[in-house]
Amino acid sequence: RAILDLDGMSMLVSAGGTREPIDPVRFIGNRSSGRQGVAIAVAAADRGADVTLLAANIDAAILADVEAHPGIAVTAVSSADDLERELTARAESADVIVMTAAVSDYRVDGASDQKIRKEDHPDGAPTLQLVQNPDILQGLAADRWPGQTIVGFAAETADSTDELLERGRRKRERKGVDLLAVNEVGWSAGFEQEQNTLHLIDAHDDVLRTVSGTKRQAAEGLLDTILRVRVR
Ligand code: C5P
Repeated sequence: RAILDLDGMSMLVSAGGTREPIDPVRFIGNRSSGRQGVAIAVAAADRGADVTLLAANIDAAILADVEAHPGIAVTAVSSADDLERELTARAESADVIVMTAAVSDYRVDGASDQKIRKEDHPDGAPTLQLVQNPDILQGLAADRWPGQTIVGFAAETADSTDELLERGRRKRERKGVDLLAVNEVGWSAGFEQEQNTLHLIDAHDDVLRTVSGTKRQAAEGLLDTILRVRVR
């Protein structure tokens, strides 16, 4: 496809999953592969956007597509704190920010700068004290300029589509974003899969569209919907 309908658009995409250090060799992480975010970055650049991808712990094989792409600049991040710093530095110049990264809600308070050893805990297991990370997306949405579009993702488990959408509407409202892409995850859906289904909820809590297919197809549907939201 050679329709450059995103020509001139500057887009910031976060993808992957953050790692919160416990000590120099251990972390708290999650199962987000970064595939959906990478697919969005590649699809947007193919459509003419100028894309920056903030890649949180994405496998080199998955990143191969973006590293070869002339329209995408990649910066690696690891923790939520890293991601927030890199986003904050670039947010103002982005027309669209798409937050697909799975950001840890908590980090370890006072991560050890030495490896934690069993010998140091002869009487049992150490206790990890967690503290909350800031909600980066909520902050970006609160600080956005008129005309800037902020898109969030919500990976949710639910017993029914109705419940899924209800959770999505509440989350869209809480985060204050222009568009929220809700995708169902579970032991065998969403993460680490080639296929995806996204329910796209706008600022009026309307489900504008449900896109299903490969992560590339889901990405194209999301980009079409972002364009639709931006002209309103
Ligand atoms: O609340 P929940 O983690 O489900 O929200 C998911 C959305 O919020 C994603 O777009 C994710 O990138 C973003 N997020 C964030 N900062 C956090 C947690 C989530 O930006 N601390």
